[in-house]
Amino acid sequence: MNFRTIIEPFRIKSVESVKFTRRDDRAEALKTAGYNVFRLRADDVLIDLLTDSGTGAMSAMQWAAMIQADESYAGSRSFYRFEQVVKDLTGFTHIIPTHQGRAAERILFHTILKPGMVVPNNNHFDTTRANIEVEGAEAVDLVIPEGRIPHVLHPFKGNVDITALDEFLDERGDQVPLVMVTVTNNSGGGQPVSLENLRAVGELCHKYDKPFFLDACRFAENAWFIKLRERAHADRTPKSIAQEMFSLADGCTMSAKKDGLANIGGFLAMNNDAWAEAARNLLILTEGFPTYGGLAGYDLEAIARGLEEVVDESYLHYRIRSTEYLGEKLIAAGVPIIRPPGGHAIYIDAKMLLPHIPALQYPGIALANALYVEAGIRGVEIGTVMFGMRPDGTEVPASMELVRLAIPRRVYTQSHIDYVAEAVIHVASRHDELRGYRLVAAPRALRHFTARFEPV
Ligand code: F0G
Repeated sequence: MNFRTIIEPFRIKSVESVKFTRRDDRAEALKTAGYNVFRLRADDVLIDLLTDSGTGAMSAMQWAAMIQADESYAGSRSFYRFEQVVKDLTGFTHIIPTHQGRAAERILFHTILKPGMVVPNNNHFDTTRANIEVEGAEAVDLVIPEGRIPHVLHPFKGNVDITALDEFLDERGDQVPLVMVTVTNNSGGGQPVSLENLRAVGELCHKYDKPFFLDACRFAENAWFIKLRERAHADRTPKSIAQEMFSLADGCTMSAKKDGLANIGGFLAMNNDAWAEAARNLLILTEGFPTYGGLAGYDLEAIARGLEEVVDESYLHYRIRSTEYLGEKLIAAGVPIIRPPGGHAIYIDAKMLLPHIPALQYPGIALANALYVEAGIRGVEIGTVMFGMRPDGTEVPASMELVRLAIPRRVYTQSHIDYVAEAVIHVASRHDELRGYRLVAAPRALRHFTARFEPV
């Protein structure tokens, strides 16, 4: 008998209570937080879907490995274990640990970018874009057209538009120091990139003699989608698919807070000796010695073990299916979301749900705030607040207004997700009561983290 129920592939050994709050208290907490859910105390949140980054539950094996870690400043045994696991997975020559993904981005971009350069990607995520712009360079998004329209179905909505990239490299190639591809494509809905597309990007990079880097945060989820949706790879292990993804590239930035199954950490990896040397020198200046890069020895152990666990088939089966399960419930109730459901999150289309709220009154903020006040659920706006501020200080509506419900790894059970679905459907049914917001104060770069708002 092939049972159809997909169960969590773990039992729970240690639990953490969640705090139930009252609607009035949540309304007050949100007001105190300047109507920005990033500024809430996490204790005032019932189900926290703000991010899947660093919020996962570690396994007993990860905790056990942490106890055995070596905290030596230089040449720690835990570094060599970490390096060996990352090399086995990625095949890259130089493995440089960093305290998280954006530190890898900053070190890479500060090493190679000069003002006036451009970096193409399918879609840059917020910190990637910001770390490029801070160097006076430009971040360009070249995802396929399907990837920009929430309701349009496509198995690999994260794919790069190969014709557009070819034209781009032909016209502006002399300004391009490297090409990046984000797997899965976070700002575009957690959507995967096919192996065929990665291969085509690799070939173009070869043709124009450009290094190709992956933003690899969710490489395992991407590999699983390839196994499910790209017929030629259906019988392969997720690990061998992931290894092939990395083999097509010349390097990667990685946040181990996602598919490293760790609470902190990341790395920068590459084959280029000269870039790696410059990166290590910068690392020593700001992160730490190259065998720890801002991490404790026990973090390196947790990541090494996490990278082995994340490519486990029963884990990935459960992971991708449980996100899809939430997506299916919302689709069945007519809530507009990015389709098909992504790997790590469901993205509600706030533009479609709240057509009466103009982009510059932030429909995504209105929806995220309503979800918090009504149900204690914290999601995040991925729209004009996150991406609408240009480096020159002008504000333009983002191409999509989304609220992302990111699912922490191995943390919530099916009944938590059933509650989330019920709450979202309830809030969506009262969409015409929601009102927009006006920005009161915000920094220019990465403003979404700390901005304060007022109801219009
Ligand atoms: N690249 C992508 C695609 C990401 O999603 C993130 C982080 C980073 C780089 C930076 O990594 O946080 O370790 O510095 N995304 C988180 C999120 C924060 O909520 O999606 P980091």
